[in-house]
Amino acid sequence: MINIIGAGLAGLSAALTLAEAGKKCRLISAQPSERAQSVLAEGGINAALDTMGEDDTPLLHFEETMKGGCYLAAPDAVRALTKNAPDIVRKLQRLGVPFNLNDDGSIMLRSFGGQKKKRTAFAKSSTGKMIMTALADEVRKYEARGLVTRFSHHTFIRLMTDAGKCAGVCARDDHTGKLYELRGDVIKCCGGLNGFFPEITTGTVTNSGNAAAALFSQGVKFANLEMIQYHPTTMGIYGKRCLVSEAARGEGGRLFSEKDGVRRYFMEERYPVLKNLMPRDVVSREMYSELRGGRKTYLDLTEIPDAIWDKKLSDLREEIMHYFPLDPKEQPVPVEPAIHYFMGGIYVNERHESSMRGLYAAGECACLYHGANRLGGNSMLGALFGGMTAAKNAQSDDSDDISERSGSEQFNCTAHPQFVKKSGEILARGLGIARCEADISDALSELNSLGCLGAVELARHELAAAMLLSALNRKESRGAHFRSDFPETNDEYRKTTVSCYKNGAVDITFEDIPENEDII
Ligand code: FUM
Repeated sequence: MINIIGAGLAGLSAALTLAEAGKKCRLISAQPSERAQSVLAEGGINAALDTMGEDDTPLLHFEETMKGGCYLAAPDAVRALTKNAPDIVRKLQRLGVPFNLNDDGSIMLRSFGGQKKKRTAFAKSSTGKMIMTALADEVRKYEARGLVTRFSHHTFIRLMTDAGKCAGVCARDDHTGKLYELRGDVIKCCGGLNGFFPEITTGTVTNSGNAAAALFSQGVKFANLEMIQYHPTTMGIYGKRCLVSEAARGEGGRLFSEKDGVRRYFMEERYPVLKNLMPRDVVSREMYSELRGGRKTYLDLTEIPDAIWDKKLSDLREEIMHYFPLDPKEQPVPVEPAIHYFMGGIYVNERHESSMRGLYAAGECACLYHGANRLGGNSMLGALFGGMTAAKNAQSDDSDDISERSGSEQFNCTAHPQFVKKSGEILARGLGIARCEADISDALSELNSLGCLGAVELARHELAAAMLLSALNRKESRGAHFRSDFPETNDEYRKTTVSCYKNGAVDITFEDIPENEDII
């Protein structure tokens, strides 16, 4: 039996792939699918469907994904991802995702950052919610047939291991407090690391990051932890940042900065080809520089025609009006960059195997497709394709080996809120849009002076240190990792940063990326 941890997009995709092949799995998650972070995805999913008469191809999608990621992603994996994208999106449509359509009934595509072709399929700006609804419904059929068994409200505690191999998971039933051991291969689909940065990410506040930390402390390798994506357009709301989808710029939104009554459409001035749709790392850095110069930054959506608002962005307008007393059709929206996505995560190969035999990872928790900067629209694609690939490669047996742990062990699997808050503030200082040796080193010293209270805090401490050490060791600027003391890209660092916890310390090494002559 295969254990899938996480019931978001990657988890559902893995479960569906297994079930369609007649294999059984358990879907274990702290939150039910309806509350997974994937539901928050707005703007769309990329696929070279070429329905807009622009001669788009999977090869162009591949090239732009590699370029957007500053050539740090694994080329063979990205090739497979982009080649499979059209079939994946067509399957989603068959499952009932209400994509916006062209007059001829084909799937409509919109422009997204870092891409010269219209390639992003969308359902207004609630694409994640629509895809999750369709997939959760499809998986339900297999639940009824006994192929997928849900363990919702079960918190991952740790991996079970046997002679260095992953042998299953230990999880806690959050209602009864009982601990269970569930044996079999494991596919981790537990989301990104936004729980390490409370209040300053667009991710769901229920994603703690504890599962990733537990894995790291158990010796699983992680990669490219310094690659943290700041989304250019977010607004502050209670306890988190609210995304203003890139779709708004894809449909004609314009960024400007303002000081003393003078407006500057700085992206259009500086980047005459892609303008407001440069990759996110570039846009966020430009906004950061405007803000540092005392100029406030805004997204101007007032020129977008009514028909586009109605057909493609009505839900985004409602969301902005819900959180702010502001109608984006009438008034520019004040926006600032905030953390949105983690390109780094569990180190996996193109089969989605981690460094521990029997353990696979997919979705935002895994590091594979996005290099130093993810293109908007590639995350749901990566989650779906990653879940499918991991499911095809995981070893399944039909045993249903599950046992309750005896005894009344009290197991704390929640980090102390003060620790989370303090370590989050430290990480934010060390891993900002622009960082330098002094910032990162100061953050490391501060982190090391925090008292660690128990096993959960200790594991988080180790993974947080790995993020800072990864940033410290990459002495160049590439994609989302901008070092003000090393502002140039240095080809000696076109390598994967690998972090591992061993012998009580975090070890950082650099690994070559397999060359692929087509893209260099
Ligand atoms: O801006 C957005 O709608 C985000 C999309 C993404 O991160 O892929």
